[in-house]
Amino acid sequence: METIVIAHRGACGYLPEHTLAAKALAHGMGAHYIEQDVVLTRDCVPVVLHDIHLEATTDVAAKFPDRVRPDGRFYAIDFTLAEIKQLRAHERTVPQKGGGRRPAYPGRFPTEPGLFEVPTLEEEITLLAGLDRSTGRRTGLYIEMKSPNWHLATCEDLSGAVLDVLHRTGYAERTDQVFLQCFDDKTLRHLRHELKTPLPLVQLIGENAWGEDSEVDYTYLRTAQGLDDIASFADGIGPWLHQIYRGRDEAGAPRFTDLVPLAHERGLVVHPYTLRADELPRGVASFDELMDILVAGAGVDGVFTDFPDLALRYLQRRG
Ligand code: G3P
Ligand code: CA
Repeated sequence: METIVIAHRGACGYLPEHTLAAKALAHGMGAHYIEQDVVLTRDCVPVVLHDIHLEATTDVAAKFPDRVRPDGRFYAIDFTLAEIKQLRAHERTVPQKGGGRRPAYPGRFPTEPGLFEVPTLEEEITLLAGLDRSTGRRTGLYIEMKSPNWHLATCEDLSGAVLDVLHRTGYAERTDQVFLQCFDDKTLRHLRHELKTPLPLVQLIGENAWGEDSEVDYTYLRTAQGLDDIASFADGIGPWLHQIYRGRDEAGAPRFTDLVPLAHERGLVVHPYTLRADELPRGVASFDELMDILVAGAGVDGVFTDFPDLALRYLQRRG
């Protein structure tokens, strides 16, 4: 089966993450799938945003300074879609020592706001479907539901809201063109058993130490028993790449965990995240070397990458 390239937050190595520009570029590069992280607005509209907060990737602090919560954060759920549409999206920033913010990836697109807005999920799907038509290609959606339990406490069911959009846009049955992904297994079980979606589901696997919003035990999920469990409701796993690749041995050969073979034995596809040309793992000299380790060495079925053009170029060269 062909190794798939998933444009992580679009072609976000080149344009600000989750902007329509980054998605159009990823489509133009020929990415097989394009990722959407989804959160809800106050009026329960699914928007494409990685964080439940707005300050890292928009000018919310300048536009709505009095809407900050006591923890210093601006939450998307506190803003209506009309308000979020007043914001300008920009390249990701992180807090810097002494106050203010700095670019998360200094070599990438400038962080000044101005050109981009936060898209709704429906707008993005409309764009990609239009590009599929005008280019004669088929590009897939790869939708992640962010912090579903947190949303459930404040708003409607995020996964139900996502399925509503897929129904409206004609994607509800396109099993060859949509993946749904989540770090929370309860959400995926709900999608499979209660909402009865036929779409392929991918269990994302993080580290327990990251403190995701649910009580998922990722250490358990990586075991044979945990993978048996995942195979009962999902079609694949999305592990962190370091849960597969463990550096090199004394002779320089890559060392791997048994996660990929264990998953494959259970019929689960494996799509690790996130391959970045400007943030390579220690001891890996180039993006091609990283692709070689994961694709030729570990035998993964696809990769999430900020640089879909580089991943596609590697696969083309490999034939
Ligand atoms: O969804 C796969 C990968 O994107 C998970 O990490 O934090 O970039 O959403 P994150
Ligand atoms: Ca994601």
